[in-house]
Amino acid sequence: MGKPCWMLLWLGVAFLAAGVLLAGCGGRLPAASPVDEPVSGARTSSPVAAAASQATAAATQSATGAGLLGRGINLGNALEAPREGEWGLVLEEGFFDVIAEAGFDSVRVPIRWHAYADAAPPYALSEDILQRVDWVVAQALARDLRVVINVHHYQALIDDPAGQRERFLAIWQQIAERYASADERLFFEVLNEPNGALDGALWNRMLREAIDTIRESNPTRWVVVGPGSWNNYRALEALTLPEDDRRLIVTFHYYDPFHFTHQGAEWTDGSEAWMGTRWEGTARQMREIQGAFDQVARWAVAHDRPVYLGEFGAYSKADMASRARWTAQVVREAEARGFAWAYWEFAAGFGAYDPVARRWRPELLGALMPADAP
Ligand code: GLC
Repeated sequence: MGKPCWMLLWLGVAFLAAGVLLAGCGGRLPAASPVDEPVSGARTSSPVAAAASQATAAATQSATGAGLLGRGINLGNALEAPREGEWGLVLEEGFFDVIAEAGFDSVRVPIRWHAYADAAPPYALSEDILQRVDWVVAQALARDLRVVINVHHYQALIDDPAGQRERFLAIWQQIAERYASADERLFFEVLNEPNGALDGALWNRMLREAIDTIRESNPTRWVVVGPGSWNNYRALEALTLPEDDRRLIVTFHYYDPFHFTHQGAEWTDGSEAWMGTRWEGTARQMREIQGAFDQVARWAVAHDRPVYLGEFGAYSKADMASRARWTAQVVREAEARGFAWAYWEFAAGFGAYDPVARRWRPELLGALMPADAP
């Protein structure tokens, strides 16, 4: 059968399947599935990635977030610090072992690139940071972990988008050229949590320019992009993407209820007063997550984009039982919609792993990787 026939066929199947699933899920939207799986080699994808791919293979030809990045964890507080180690964490080879052994599919690596870029043109990145990131990427790939590298904490850009525009694009040009021939299991993420002055139309323009810069050397690499307002799902409607670029994954971050997840967070004004806020998993609390994720799923289907919940987590000052309940529920609701996810984060203030005792916190690992998961 020629291509047009196939297209008509899958369009028809997709339409029917979407209708059936919608009817059966109380308005929830189906996950999509990758036909052009980006991961090469003999990788057996995780149960969740495989299930998301197979269950809905007939529904659409598009990739799902779950199929692309599966279950992940953020290597936060290391390369996002002003210098690695200043926030108490230096990445170690063994971390990649424990993450892979626990069954994760991917890692997200927040990086403060601008701290290693000259202030004046051509804004050269230091060879030190490039070699360190080479090492991180190699460690992840050697264990078959897909790896997302982003630009994190670029506050000067957020405060002065026009003044930092050229430098931001130069940073991306250098990163993109460095990894132009890297394994396709390496993903780029344009900018963590744009907000403030860098939002709305201005963010859409800057994002477009960054994508164009990346595409000059990486025409087919998967690139993670997110909305303004700190990657809040409510800002998705304002996000505009180049229609013809089908290698974009849309990310959002989820920390609601914020007074629960950020209680006692030293970097959040007023958060001392939220101490003691619990998350019991009441029907209303569950509906809050479901409503938010349904909104994301509807947007994703309407725009035919895979979704990556790139950050979610509850700070260690909340009680562990509430953290575990909330984390498990967020994971469940994300997976039900075919979203990939990455817990915030591995071994610091939200840590699922205790770097001193050198073991996972069982409640959090159990929430992320339930034994009865597919
Ligand atoms: C954002 C910040 C990070 C913080 C996290 C949780 O990713 O960049 O520093 O720890 O959100 O608040």
